[in-house]
Amino acid sequence: MTIGWDLRLLQAVLNNAGVGLMVQDRQRRILALNPAFEEITGWSWKEVAGRECVEVFGCHTSSGKCIINKFCPGVRVIEGEVPKVSRELIINKGNGEKRWVEVTVSAIKGDEGRVEYIVSILRDISEKKKYSEELLRVKTLATLGQLASELAHEIKNPLNSIQIQMLLLEREISQHKALPQEHIRELVNRVREEIVRLNDLTNSCLKFSSSGSLSLRYEALGPILEELVALITPQASLSGVRVELEVEEDLPPVMADREKIRQALLNMVLNALEAMPDGGVLCLKAQRKEKGVKLVVKDTGYGIPEDVRDRVFELFYTTKKGGTGIGLPLAQNIVQAHGGYISFSTSEGGTEFVITLPLEKQDGA
Ligand SMILES: Nc1ncnc2c1ncn2[C@@H]1O[C@H](COP(=O)(O)OP(=O)(O)OP(=O)(O)O)[C@@H](O)[C@H]1O
Ligand SMILES: [Mg+2]
Repeated sequence: MTIGWDLRLLQAVLNNAGVGLMVQDRQRRILALNPAFEEITGWSWKEVAGRECVEVFGCHTSSGKCIINKFCPGVRVIEGEVPKVSRELIINKGNGEKRWVEVTVSAIKGDEGRVEYIVSILRDISEKKKYSEELLRVKTLATLGQLASELAHEIKNPLNSIQIQMLLLEREISQHKALPQEHIRELVNRVREEIVRLNDLTNSCLKFSSSGSLSLRYEALGPILEELVALITPQASLSGVRVELEVEEDLPPVMADREKIRQALLNMVLNALEAMPDGGVLCLKAQRKEKGVKLVVKDTGYGIPEDVRDRVFELFYTTKKGGTGIGLPLAQNIVQAHGGYISFSTSEGGTEFVITLPLEKQDGA
């Protein structure tokens, strides 16, 4: 084999490698990279040639901390601390997005044994990260759900007892005519209201913890939506909200727990109404999808602010006075237990939540 052939072969290997490759000098200036590297990072060779990697990729950790000098895997290899090192980090892509990558840096030494260049192998691990974050979220929710259920059970008994004692106290007071009856009744009512609130909260917690166990049957979704519309229309019209219903014809039945799906939809509908205190349009739709059915809850409310969007499915996260932050996580648990998923889109003109349910519950879903 001639040297020319060797180089061509090497070039072909680099061009076709499934992992990103980059060569840098001791100052971390970029000397070469292959097409896979360009694809993963979104930076073209022209944009980065000769530049220092720090200013291009701005590598950082999930908490946003910059990985410069001491913590940079490249620097550790250049300084001769280690011959090879791997690390997971986030880079800034050429289009401004972020991406999780795994980078393995190794040394190329000169004749005197000094590190002259470093080679980085780059793998895109965004999917893996997304999956492990989702797993963590599900685990956290399950733990919180169990805690919520235990707490709710603990709270329920003393709450019942408080309710009874309040009744006795009220009777006792009414027999002492010298006491300011009107004022005392007001106080008692306030305590009563708080008891009702606590009772509702404990019931929601109990519902949350049982949201994963389903009793499945083939269900037509149209009637569930019709029932829901009948239930909420009086409340909606009080705040000037018009309710629309669109159920596609010949919608196939799906394997579902009727009560649980109704609960999930109701939680979304309540959110929609709460987002339109001064009126608007609430639209419920059921549509056929390739392998399932889509249920849509669309409002013309104030939308979900950007800093809230990532958190709406967090248990106990709420932006409302008097909210509990259980509505959406409960809906999500129910839908996921059916093997489906929830997505949403939002703007200042309103929000659309979509439940997608498979026709058959998938095994292991
Ligand atoms: N349709 C919507 N429009 C605007 N914001 C919404 C909408 N749906 C949800 N949100 C936001 O998501 C948050 C979480 O919703 P979630 O239903 O889980 O809890 P909540 O409504 O605050 O309390 P509750 O447990 O009483 O339902 C809300 O506090 C709100 O900020
Ligand atoms: Mg809610």
